[in-house]
Order: sequence, then C-alpha cells, then structure tokens
Amino acid sequence: MEVVVTSNPTELGTIVADAIEQLVTNVPNATLGLATGSSPLTVYAELIRRHQQGRISFRRTTMFLLDEYVGLPADHPETYRMTIRREFTDQIDVPDSSAHGPDGTATDLLAECQRYEEKITASGGIDLQLLGIGTDGHIGFNEPVSSLASRTRIKTLTPGTRNDNARFFTSPEEVPQHALTQGIGTILEARHLVLVASGATKAEAIAKTVEGPIGAMVPATSLQLHPHATVVVDESAAAMLQRIDYYRSAYLNKPAWQTI
Ligand code: F6R
Repeated sequence: MEVVVTSNPTELGTIVADAIEQLVTNVPNATLGLATGSSPLTVYAELIRRHQQGRISFRRTTMFLLDEYVGLPADHPETYRMTIRREFTDQIDVPDSSAHGPDGTATDLLAECQRYEEKITASGGIDLQLLGIGTDGHIGFNEPVSSLASRTRIKTLTPGTRNDNARFFTSPEEVPQHALTQGIGTILEARHLVLVASGATKAEAIAKTVEGPIGAMVPATSLQLHPHATVVVDESAAAMLQRIDYYRSAYLNKPAWQTI
C-alpha cells in the first residue's frame, strides 16, 4: 500500500485529481467510483476547477457511487445520489445517465443489489475507486465485522456512523437505519483504490488501516490485500502512523513518471 502524506486537504485534492485527470485523459471510456461525505470534497472541487478551465472532460466517463441510504425519498437532499449531483456531477459534463448509484427506494432491495453488481460488471469494472473512511474504519457502508468477501447488499448502520452523519440531517433520528453498499469484495475488484482522509478524527482509523492486522473489525484493512491501493492523508490524519518518515521518503523518491 502506498501512503501519501500531504500538508492539507487542498494538496490532497490536487494529488488525487492528478491521478483522476491522468485516467480520464488516457482512458476516454474510464469508469470512476465515487464516494460521498466530506473527505473527497477537495478532490471534486479541484476536478470541477480543471473542467471549468477546459482541461478535463468527463463526457465519456461512467461513474458509480459506493452506497445509498435506504428509504429516503429520491428527491431528499441527503440521498447520496442528490449529494453527489450537487457536489460534483452537476458541475461537470458527465451525462446524468452515466452516473449510477444503488436505488435505496427499490421495492425489492435484494434484486436491486444484484442489478447494481451486474451494472458495474457490464461497464467493464471500475478503474479508480475513491474511498473515504469512517472513524470506525468503515469503507462504503461496510461497518465493522463486514465480510471481507461481501458483495453489494443491505447493511444496518452502527449508532456511531448514524451519529457521525447526523450533522447532515435536522435531527439524529432522521438518519436512516439502513443503507445499500458495495461490498468489500466488490470494492477490491476496482483496479486502483484511492482512500482519502483528513482531520484528527480519522488518525486512529488510518493507523489501523495501514499498519494494523487485516481483520473484519476494521474493514478498510482489506486494502492491504489489493495490489494497487493508495492512501492519501493530511498531516492530522497521518498523526498516528508509526512509519511516517518512510512513507514520506518513498513518495519523494518515486520515479518522476509515476503518479499515485
Ligand atoms: C460514503 C462513504 C462513507 C464515507 C465515510 C466518511 O459514500 O463511502 O464510507 O466515506 O463515512 O465520511 P466523511 O468523509 O464525511 O467523514
């Protein structure tokens, strides 16, 4: 796993946007996996800026969201589909029909999970999957003790995750109890995983993800099994890493032609 320690969330956004720009430029029909939440916001802001400058187009890119709440009406502003439109896809040139998410309003949720898996497979698979991380080490909504081989399915959110996400709702009780999420097995099939984290609240989860033993109690440790996983953090999220000097020197001494 490569660890890139950046000075601040803006620099984090620039480094990850470089990798996405390179992908979308070199692979015109690229498939990009998106995450919602606060962590990737500087990445989206930088990509929007580059798009507005005419430097990057997403017209031929297909996008897949990681997850979606179950039971919120489709036009609720906090559905992940609406959130990603507002924060990213409505501000670039990707056609709305090319940006997909699991449907948390489906009457048959099991069939919806299967349909979503098939849609990802039919696209040729995800080239680069952006990931955030929960304070408990979740990725997507794969909460602790999720199977490391899991596929897209319905998960019950932990009280901690509902509490973390309560800031987006008018009251904590409004946060849905369930979500549809790509499984860890699904996520590990993406060709490049890029996990981003900033802020001190993520420091413990990042240290366990990078340096801890692999286990279902910290779902993000599954990234250690992936041949091309990159963890991009700011100084605060990196604060509990024991081998931080090594990560810094490895990144600085990378061959010039290699991005993350
Ligand atoms: C959302 C997702 C979640 C978030 C995680 C961190 O699509 O995949 O795993 O990335 O809950 O959220 P923030 O970045 O808001 O702390």
